[in-house]
Amino acid sequence: MLLFLVLVCLLKSFNLGEADTTDGFTPVPLTQANFELQRPYNVPLEERYSYEHGIHKLWVYANDKPHDPNSHTQPRTEIRIEGLDYSSGVQQFEGYGFVPNGTSGVTISEIHGASSGATTLILRIYDGNMRYYSGDLVDTGLYDNGLD
Ligand SMILES: *[C@@H]1O[C@H](CO)[C@@H](O)[C@H](O)[C@H]1NC(C)=O
Repeated sequence: MLLFLVLVCLLKSFNLGEADTTDGFTPVPLTQANFELQRPYNVPLEERYSYEHGIHKLWVYANDKPHDPNSHTQPRTEIRIEGLDYSSGVQQFEGYGFVPNGTSGVTISEIHGASSGATTLILRIYDGNMRYYSGDLVDTGLYDNGLD
């Protein structure tokens, strides 16, 4: 099974005629220097990632290796955002994604650190629907559509 994700990070907001969810926030520059790319340890980066025309494309197969030979985690191709760690206040990340039809079980966003457990948030796609971990339904019908 192919897990595939396209991520587009944009620093400007769009006016959709609704209240701007970024009102009151201060933009923080996000550059390639903030990106730590992880991929299955036994394949070259270009076999799981590309960056063209401002679009990051990441993909991973269910039978890929983890990112580190000593790791027992699931296979991943991931952009980990570095240098913007925080421990207080309210932070917002804005990005646009695209998940092709047929992708399932892919994590599209993860926030590390929690009062209990390793993560505060994981959003995954199963059968075109976004779920909090594999539980609560967040959004539906997302295959071949843009994700905000
Ligand atoms: C996804 O692919 C399946 C199998 O080809 C098809 O039945 C379904 O309609 C597709 N869904 C979308 C949203 O295109």
